Amino acid sequence: MSKITVEQATIERKKELGNSYFAFEISPFSKVKAIKPGQFVHIKIPHTDIYFRRAFSVYDVHPQKKAVEIIFKVFGRGTALLSRLHPGDHLDILGPLGNSFAFPTKKETALLVAGGIGMPPIYFLAKELAPIMTNKSKAVFFYGGNSRTDLVELARIKRLGIRVVTATEDGSLGFRGLITKALAKEIDGLSGDCRIYACGPEGMLKAVDRLALEKSIPGQLSLEAPMPCGIGICLGCILPLTAGGYTRVCREGPVYNVGEVRL
Ligand SMILES: Cc1cc2nc3c(=O)[nH]c(=O)nc-3n(C[C@H](O)[C@H](O)[C@H](O)COP(=O)(O)OP(=O)(O)OC[C@H]3O[C@@H](n4cnc5c(N)ncnc54)[C@H](O)[C@@H]3O)c2cc1C
Ligand code: FES
Repeated sequence: MSKITVEQATIERKKELGNSYFAFEISPFSKVKAIKPGQFVHIKIPHTDIYFRRAFSVYDVHPQKKAVEIIFKVFGRGTALLSRLHPGDHLDILGPLGNSFAFPTKKETALLVAGGIGMPPIYFLAKELAPIMTNKSKAVFFYGGNSRTDLVELARIKRLGIRVVTATEDGSLGFRGLITKALAKEIDGLSGDCRIYACGPEGMLKAVDRLALEKSIPGQLSLEAPMPCGIGICLGCILPLTAGGYTRVCREGPVYNVGEVRL
């Protein structure tokens, strides 16, 4: 894990993405160059009685501006209060925290699977992979949600130049049904080695984990757990390991190999 810093930063840009999704660009964050895809920041909601920070995966970085971007969906009280902040407001940020995704080998096709608000770390990984890929067909971005309004920032994802497969449960965009169905179909038609990366709701991660194990495909999942401290002290974020014992998602995770955690 990289060195942890607590910093005071400012919301430089706020974008409403619809359907209770918001994007913030926050700066300055001095450790921006050290952030790797899969890592997260832990943000204190200012001017409230909320004691525990909230975890947000890094969506993008802009080293020259010393800026990080996050995307969040209003879920409970903390994110509701966060969504009411504006450019110029200050945030206390801890990070970068957690481990990160391991890149695929040159011969592997990267199957990048994002479900709903699990998209940010998968986008960041795809953004880092795209420029070093000699063959853009060696990565596919799968993005699923309940409806088309859950698939935010699609234009930006498409600008990476890799193939994007969308799925919505109501059929309003792309494949009708779960994104894991579209993924399974793709895997059946693939020749050669591939590697799966996924972040999204629990049900989706369980399905990806099962599929990867059944097909003997290596891969990694970015997991979530309640994170009161974020730095490995409180044990509030532990999950059971398949091999026995527990792991602290904030410290040993949030990225795990498929099959590693009992989901
Ligand atoms: C590694 C990681 C990355 C994430 N990335 C994103 C992302 O990119 N975008 C996004 O929208 N969401 C992300 N989340 C989820 C995000 O952190 C939650 O949506 C957010 O915590 C919800 O906060 P809330 O205040 O809206 O909800 P609330 O229900 O008010 O609070 C939820 C969380 O707050 C903390 N908390 C609140 N009360 C207590 C208590 N009494 N004791 C202990 N803990 C408490 C816990 O961590 C709890 O899980 C991520 C979570 C993790 C773990
Ligand atoms: S959040 Fe405290 S140990 Fe992980």
